[in-house]
Amino acid sequence: MSATLEGKVVLVTGGSRGIGAAIARRFASFGAYVVAGYRSDHEAANRLADELGGSGRNCIAVQADVANPDDIKTLVSSAVERFGKIDVLVNCAAVGTYRPLGAMDAPFIRSILETNIMGTVLMTEAVLPHLPSPGGRIVNFASALAYRPIPASSVYSASKAAVVTLTHAFAKELGPKGITVNALAPGVIETDMTTRILAERGDQILAMTPLARIGQPDDIAGIVTFLASPEAGWITGRTIIADGGVT
Ligand SMILES: NC(=O)c1ccc[n+]([C@@H]2O[C@H](COP(=O)([O-])OP(=O)(O)OC[C@H]3O[C@@H](n4cnc5c(N)ncnc54)[C@H](OP(=O)(O)O)[C@@H]3O)[C@@H](O)[C@H]2O)c1
Repeated sequence: MSATLEGKVVLVTGGSRGIGAAIARRFASFGAYVVAGYRSDHEAANRLADELGGSGRNCIAVQADVANPDDIKTLVSSAVERFGKIDVLVNCAAVGTYRPLGAMDAPFIRSILETNIMGTVLMTEAVLPHLPSPGGRIVNFASALAYRPIPASSVYSASKAAVVTLTHAFAKELGPKGITVNALAPGVIETDMTTRILAERGDQILAMTPLARIGQPDDIAGIVTFLASPEAGWITGRTIIADGGVT
């Protein structure tokens, strides 16, 4: 697989930290060029870009809020200006905050839906004209919570269920162009997003995980590079649950 990803240009939203950063590192290790989008953490983004190539040779970090259409334009044009094309889009950016019924308000709901759903749609539309046809690849991020929500996760879980449906629908729309669209639905993976839940319920999560450990960003990165490779060319519209066997 490594040879088939060499020279590919991969745009990873939410690529500066956590799962997105592991995905960026994995693609770079196969000789791909990486554009890592992020919203606000300049330090993490610049550290990753330096680590993966220094001075923007193989990796650039671009600040862009995926809930902002103007930022999306900047992100996509930066990728095309720097590397000349985009072969793979990984829609990894998301907001993962929980609130119980009775504690939600419109700004809270909007912030989740705009990043997790609208961001996925607008990024796909913006990158589409640049994807090779046939051969383009889109990998979205759902969550195992789309299938088994936990208390207080309702809006986040519903946003990820929407990503499952968007993935299926986009796959039907883009299949005739030879572009595949798939999604990952991870269980709990140890990142900044899950620091609190692991502190509160880590032992419980470990006890219900057949593979008997807490998932790591690297557990997800290899599935994404597989879905982006020619070996996965006959898979489209699917969401792969990767949760150590919990679901
Ligand atoms: N961790 C898990 O257990 C888990 C489980 C299931 C699904 N997932 C999904 O996996 C993906 C990655 O999760 P993670 O745990 O790696 O998250 P994370 O550690 O919280 O990192 C989130 C990343 O997304 C970026 N981001 C957030 N909102 C953005 C926006 N509006 N525009 C652009 N970038 C934005 C952040 O940039 P800044 O740092 O600049 O803010 C950061 O790079 C998400 O889609 C998440 O829903 C995670």
